[in-house]
Amino acid sequence: MATLPTRVKITDVGPRDGLQNEKGNVPAAVKIGLVHRLQDAGVQSIEATSFVSPKWVPQMADAAEVMAGIERRPGVRYSVLTPNMKGFEAAVAPDRSLWPDEIVVFGAASEAFSQKNINCSIAESIERFAPVVAAAHDKGIRVRGAISCAVGCPYEGEVPPSRVELVARLMKDIGVDELYVADTIGVGTPRKVQAAMEAALRHYPLDLLAGHFHDTYGQALANTLASLELGVWQYDASSAGLGGCPYAKGATGNVATEDVVYMLRGMGIDTGIDLDRLIDAGRYISDFLQRKPNSRAATAMLNQRSA
Ligand code: HMG
Ligand code: MG
Repeated sequence: MATLPTRVKITDVGPRDGLQNEKGNVPAAVKIGLVHRLQDAGVQSIEATSFVSPKWVPQMADAAEVMAGIERRPGVRYSVLTPNMKGFEAAVAPDRSLWPDEIVVFGAASEAFSQKNINCSIAESIERFAPVVAAAHDKGIRVRGAISCAVGCPYEGEVPPSRVELVARLMKDIGVDELYVADTIGVGTPRKVQAAMEAALRHYPLDLLAGHFHDTYGQALANTLASLELGVWQYDASSAGLGGCPYAKGATGNVATEDVVYMLRGMGIDTGIDLDRLIDAGRYISDFLQRKPNSRAATAMLNQRSA
């Protein structure tokens, strides 16, 4: 077996990817409450919200309020999605203490998904991202780039690794610092995800590459393990398995952070996250949403607690 990383960095994307897809209203105070519980659990990187059009994603219309309400913890990095200059300017409009540490520009390996999600072609998206990346760097803010539909697209079907390689190169050309390869609709299986990762690795080194796996088909943990075998040591995951993209019909949440942490802990791989407290965070948001956490590990451990 390949030598696996001994440490994994997890970005919890629940407050953003998770809550962008909720039908009911989630007040800013609850979103902030989730961020606080995640940082209490030792999560060191949190995707907190998105500065996107409220007409497109009304669930994120309170982005500024969420950022203003978070009591920042030293050592934790807070990121937000900014698809264009308008979003970036809104993210850095308040005083510096409220700026994100990182922003995310999000493109796609599929033309159809790019159009549906951000209303432009892949080439146009890169043109829009370029000034955002430059403006962020001017302010000392790091930039992550997401490649959605890196293995499959709800509109175009299977996506070849060559598309991932192309978008990774375009992201590199405009100065995006780190990349995350996203299986938006959770159709990937281990070898396909490895091929997508290898395509991205042609332009980004291992230390600047992350996996972002939705769990629609129950493959996300397997895909995480497959990526670990390549040496990838950074992953996005969502507390209580919340999430989905409003422009990817049928796609369910990201892999639950609890499940990833349980697996890694069992393999002796350090995440710095306290699983019990993480389960509390997932339960907090699940209680608010009046549903059970979408995490097998959380369900099992909560059952044990109440036994
Ligand atoms: P557009 O309509 O082409 O933009 O949308 P526009 O520049 O023509 O502007 C139209 C209107 O939107 C204007 O307002 C702008 O001011 C406003 P109006 O004059 O009509 O009143 N506007 C904005 N308002 C607030 N913040 C902004 C902003 N930009 C324009 N940033 C746009 C283009 C990109 C804005 C739109 O398509 C959009 O917001 N898309 C976001 C979609 C989204 O958030 N999807 C989910 C996140 S991505 C995801 O989940 C995938 C990921 O998890 C990885 C994976 O799993 O694959 C990251
Ligand atoms: Mg996602």
